[in-house]
Amino acid sequence: MTSLPMTSLNGKKIIVVGGSSGIGFGVAAAALESGAEVVIAGRSADKLKAATKRLAGAGRVTAIAADMANEADVARLFGAIGAFDHLVATAGTPPPNDPIGETDMDFVRQFVDGKLIGAVMLAKHAVRTLNKGGSMIFTSGINKDRPPVPGGSVVSAVAGSFTYFARALALELAPTRVNVVSPGWVDTEMWDEIVGEAKASYFEQMGGRIPAGRIARPADIAPAYLYLMQNEFMTGETVHVDGGQRLV
Ligand SMILES: NC(=O)c1ccc[n+]([C@@H]2O[C@H](COP(=O)([O-])OP(=O)(O)OC[C@H]3O[C@@H](n4cnc5c(N)ncnc54)[C@H](OP(=O)(O)O)[C@@H]3O)[C@@H](O)[C@H]2O)c1
Repeated sequence: MTSLPMTSLNGKKIIVVGGSSGIGFGVAAAALESGAEVVIAGRSADKLKAATKRLAGAGRVTAIAADMANEADVARLFGAIGAFDHLVATAGTPPPNDPIGETDMDFVRQFVDGKLIGAVMLAKHAVRTLNKGGSMIFTSGINKDRPPVPGGSVVSAVAGSFTYFARALALELAPTRVNVVSPGWVDTEMWDEIVGEAKASYFEQMGGRIPAGRIARPADIAPAYLYLMQNEFMTGETVHVDGGQRLV
């Protein structure tokens, strides 16, 4: 009998940039459950401390405060971690949502720096210490397929760019694998920031429209990241986990 070409995560070292909250926290929890050692990174030391406390019973987890929009921070992050096996980047902030004629360019630059330029810097510094057989996984999102109108152009462009970033990097860095997860709406802390108390009614409406019949939790999305880490034949791919949201 031939064995499946899926590598175990047992004993692997995984960095989750954005792991103190939302989707990244879900990935960190799932990776720990699979026996990996996890390093979570984010800007706020307080958020990291709280997340590490919540994750501690699940396995070996440590935290490093770093802003992925700051290259010195990114270099320090990878310097502190040393050799590792998988990079997961879920970090992001609420996107600009003004109509194009009212765009605040400082906010747009800040958003692009934190998400896209940050991802380029993570990849640049990760390659130096990423173990053979490892991978990088970035996060895009449903807004590239179903942009909010008006105000969705910037987030759509940034999210869409990850598909092509990963395809090109998968060629350049082969055999290191590079992939993207594209979630639909997920119930995370980011939504509290975007819509506040209206979150429940937004979720009820969208949950009723999509084939899955509800909005995702981080635990619904995390297995896609684990799958991309483990399947040695997945590279240059964007995996959609959106409960069918792109269909409606
Ligand atoms: N939630 C959704 O419905 C949804 C849908 C599609 C796509 N997405 C995308 O998925 C990603 C994660 O979203 P989420 O809902 O999980 O958000 P979240 O709960 O707000 O978590 C974001 C995480 O990223 C960290 N972070 C933000 N900016 C950072 C930076 N410059 N450097 C390092 N860490 C940073 C945050 O910690 P600090 O604030 O302490 O830095 C936090 O740990 C985002 O890019 C989002 O656009 C989300």
